[in-house]
Amino acid sequence: MPHIVIDKLKDIKYPIKTKKAEFLFKAEDYIGVKTSNAKFLLNIRKYKNGYLVKYDKVTRPIISEIKKAYMDFVELNEAEIIFENIHGIKEKLPDENMLDINDNLSKIDIIEVGFGSGRHLLYLAKKYPDKTILGIEIHKPSIEQVLKRIKNENINNIKIINHDARLILSKIPSNNLHSIYVHFPVPWDKKEHRRVINSDFINESVRTLQKNGFLHLRTDSENYFAYSLKKFLEVNKTHIEIKKNLPYEITSKYEERWIKMGKNIYDIYMYSLEISEEKKENFDFSFDKKLTNLDFNAKIYDNFIIHLEKEKKIDENSSLIRATIGNFNRPEHIYIINTQKPYYFKKPAEIKENYLAHQEIKRLFNG
Ligand SMILES: C[S@@+](CC[C@H](N)C(=O)[O-])C[C@H]1O[C@@H](n2cnc3c(N)ncnc32)[C@H](O)[C@@H]1O
Repeated sequence: MPHIVIDKLKDIKYPIKTKKAEFLFKAEDYIGVKTSNAKFLLNIRKYKNGYLVKYDKVTRPIISEIKKAYMDFVELNEAEIIFENIHGIKEKLPDENMLDINDNLSKIDIIEVGFGSGRHLLYLAKKYPDKTILGIEIHKPSIEQVLKRIKNENINNIKIINHDARLILSKIPSNNLHSIYVHFPVPWDKKEHRRVINSDFINESVRTLQKNGFLHLRTDSENYFAYSLKKFLEVNKTHIEIKKNLPYEITSKYEERWIKMGKNIYDIYMYSLEISEEKKENFDFSFDKKLTNLDFNAKIYDNFIIHLEKEKKIDENSSLIRATIGNFNRPEHIYIINTQKPYYFKKPAEIKENYLAHQEIKRLFNG
C-alpha cells in the first residue's frame, strides 16, 4: 500500500488549500482531502520516530491523486520524508474503459457477467462492433489482463465494472439490453445465496432486456443448471430454450478444461417477450438534520444491513462516522460527515439496498 513516513506534524487549522489539494477537516487520526480528481481520507498514525501517512482503503483514490495529497501534506507540515514507497508504484486501475457503479449505464447494449480471461467478452466486442459491451467482474487481476488486451487490440466498445454483477442490473434502464451472458458462473453448491442467478437477477434481466432480448447461461454444473431452470420457470412471459453438449461460437479457457474431462455442458436461453415498465427510481441520499443517539450495534434486516462502526470527532459540532450499509452479501463501507446537515463523504452506490439503509439510518437516528 503506498504510504509515507514523515518526521513531524504541525498544528494546522483546517480547512486549508494547498497547490494541488484541499485539506478539508481533521477528524482525530483522519484528514479529509480533495484533489482535482478525487475525494478521500488520509489516515495519520504515530510510527517510530515519525508519523505514518496512508490513504484510507474505503475511499481509495487513484495513485496519482494520492501522490498529490502526500506531497502537499509534507509541504504543509514543513516535514521531511523519512520513508516512502510511492514512486515505484504504477497505476493499474482505473483505466479509461472502467466505469463506476454510479456512472450512467444507459448506453450499454450487452452485459457479460464474470468474464474471467475475457475471451468471450472480446469476441462479443468484435461480433457486435456497433454495440457497447459491459463486462462485470469481481476479480481484479482478470480485469487488469483484459484491459491490456483491449488496448493491444484497439477495441473501443468494451466497458468494465469491478463490482458484484448482482447489484448492477438495477442501474440499467428498462428494455435496454440486447443480451446478457453468464458463462460458467461459480456454482456455489454449498452457498446458494452467493449464486449470480437468483430470482432478483432474473426479474431484473427480464426488465432490462429488450423485447426478444435474451439471457444466456452456459454451465458445466448439472446442479446449477437444474437450479437455474427452476428459477427461470418462476418468471412469466418468457421463452426458454435448453441445449445440452452443443458447441458454442467460442470456447472459453474454462470450458476447454471441462470438455477434456468429458463433462456435460448445459445452455439455457431465456428470452424476454414483453416490453417492461420504465423504472422510476430517484434515490435521494440527503439527510435533513444531525444524526443523534447513535447506536454502534450491527442491525440486520431482510434486504440490507446497517452497522455504524466508529465516530471520530471533527469539532464541537461535527464528526466523521464510519459505517457499513447495504446489501448483506456485498455491503458498502461509507463515511458520513455528521453536522447540522449531514452528508456522505462519498456518495454510496445508487442501489436499492443502500437507499433502504439510508432511509433506516434517518429513521433510527433522526427519530
Ligand atoms: C468460473 S469463472 C468463468 C469465467 C468465464 N466466464 C469463462 O467462461 O471462462 C467465473 C467468473 O465469475 C466471476 N464472478 C463470480 N461471482 C461474480 C459476481 N457476483 N459478479 C461478477 N463476477 C463474478 C469470478 O471472478 C470468475 O472470474
